[in-house]
Amino acid sequence: MKKILVTGGAGYIGSHTALALLKSDYEVVVVDNLFNSSQESLTRVEKLSGKSLTFYQSDIRDKAALINIFKKEKIDAVIHFAGLKAVGESVLKPLAYYQNNVEGTLTLVEVMKECGTNCLVFSSSATVYGEANQPPYVETQPLGNPSSPYGKTKAMVEQILMDVAVSDPEIKIANLRYFNPIGADASGQIGEDPNGIPNNLMPFVAQVAVGKRDKLAIFGDDYPTKDGTCLRDYIHVTDLAVGHIDALTWLLKQEQGCCEAFNLGTGEPLSVLDIVHGFENFTKQTISYEFSPRRSGDLPAFWANSSKAQEILAWQPTKSLQDMMEDTWRWQSNNPQGYQN
Ligand code: NAD
Ligand code: WQD
Repeated sequence: MKKILVTGGAGYIGSHTALALLKSDYEVVVVDNLFNSSQESLTRVEKLSGKSLTFYQSDIRDKAALINIFKKEKIDAVIHFAGLKAVGESVLKPLAYYQNNVEGTLTLVEVMKECGTNCLVFSSSATVYGEANQPPYVETQPLGNPSSPYGKTKAMVEQILMDVAVSDPEIKIANLRYFNPIGADASGQIGEDPNGIPNNLMPFVAQVAVGKRDKLAIFGDDYPTKDGTCLRDYIHVTDLAVGHIDALTWLLKQEQGCCEAFNLGTGEPLSVLDIVHGFENFTKQTISYEFSPRRSGDLPAFWANSSKAQEILAWQPTKSLQDMMEDTWRWQSNNPQGYQN
């Protein structure tokens, strides 16, 4: 049985991926400093899967601690989620973002090389395409120049990992570029639990529905789109988690070193109003909203061409808009205070 280290595994996407790994009979070791998460997510992952995992509360930048974990656990492959992800905060605290996201990855890859672990799946983002590329984004387009320090860290790490792969014929890397992950495990037991006011659309909508927030502000109604609001490619977090298993399976089969990027999205652009009305329609909740000025840095529209992941990884998203809305609501209504319940 292969043993997988999941950095940032207590977080939103990490916990869903840890669950998918356990369900697929991998052994799971999680390293998370719990800066933006709760260990309760992992307790629930163990209950849902009926299996146990090993947890270390540790920072990936602590090289000595990481080496000890690798030596003790004999890790076969790494899925690397750990990092900071708030776009707006990254403009105010760029050093924290470069330090956590870039230095954290450098330390992790150094330790992997020192300990002979060659397989890495990295959490990248659609934001690496920047503003110059036209949607649908496809992996043959060049890396762009993302507007936020957060986005720049993702593009920088991808570049670093490509250089590492060129220098080391043994190393095998998949850079997974997520579009807009939403939803929750169908059990309603694990989900997205942001600290403070949510930055992202879906958790904000869910918190309005549960009565934690009064009203959604929709940022802009005059974009050149079908209804004036921005278009995005929303992808169910369980489909995304399965994408990691598929990438891992593919990497573990490769006989030669590689570094490949894969888009993970549905390819179907939806507007902010599609999400609001979809949520209302499928959950029978009413969402109060008002239009407000555009948010700085938002692009009018982007979505994925995910043919490469479908052809090479045999990955296929299976969840519908209805699943995304119902599962979000099941998680939020069962856990109005997130993991603090
Ligand atoms: P999250 O904040 O829920 O999870 C990240 C986890 O990493 C948290 O549990 C946090 O405590 C941990 N962490 C942060 N820095 C750490 C460090 N130095 N050492 C150890 N643990 C650390 O975020 P998420 O939404 O699950 O995102 C996971 C990854 O996917 C991130 O790298 C993010 O940039 C990337 N991503 C997320 C989205 C999205 O919309 N959620 C989209 C594209 C890419
Ligand atoms: C979606 C749409 C907003 C909140 C970000 C990162 C990206 C990736 C995913 C990590 C936009 C609108 C939002 C609100 C709103 N993350 N909106 N009111 O900006 O597409 O992508 O998360 O890599 O890198 O940039 O996602 O959920 O913030 O916004 O009207 O209160 O919802 O303007 O059109 P975004 P989002």
